[in-house]
Amino acid sequence: MKRSLGSSKINTAVFISGTGSNFKNLVKFSCDNKAPIKINLVISNNSNAKGLNFAKKFKIEQRIYKYKNRSEDEKKILKLLKRKKIKLICLAGFMKIISKNFIKKFNGKILNIHPSLLPKYKGLNTHFRVIENKEKFSGCTIHFVTSRLDSGKIILQKKIRVSKNDTPYKLSRKILKEEHALYPKAIMKLFANS
Ligand code: GRF
Repeated sequence: MKRSLGSSKINTAVFISGTGSNFKNLVKFSCDNKAPIKINLVISNNSNAKGLNFAKKFKIEQRIYKYKNRSEDEKKILKLLKRKKIKLICLAGFMKIISKNFIKKFNGKILNIHPSLLPKYKGLNTHFRVIENKEKFSGCTIHFVTSRLDSGKIILQKKIRVSKNDTPYKLSRKILKEEHALYPKAIMKLFANS
């Protein structure tokens, strides 16, 4: 994905469902002059998502779509994205599955962050399963979103060692820290030479 020299930043929407620490981190990153993205919109299926407070503080437009009727909500979201000229979606802890149709119709790229070394441990409860299986390593992955869950082309991964005394919670905290470094790096990589 290229930007022409001197062009303005890429309009980006972040989709969240909860804490939104990755969202917050992406907003901070986007404020850097060198960052290729501008965050214009945050979408959530959960009106109580903690991350929305941050959006309010930073005056980023926020919209709630509960996803009770996915196809209706996605139609509305696609319209909004078009109107706001959004060309990049960053999923960051968004707990709803985006439809094949949405992926096909969206005129841009969709990225996701997953807290494991994909293709291992797709889906939920990754840290618990990693510890149960006594894995020596885990990590996080930034990948393109396709219609197959957590299976799109990998952009970047960060591997970390799992300690003997790691609990799922401890591991999640360690990996979250790495996620915050990895998402901006992956975006920079994607728009390199632009
Ligand atoms: C992160 O671990 C991310 O990898 C996963 O959901 C979590 C979201 O955390 N998809 P936060 O809401 O960004 O703090």
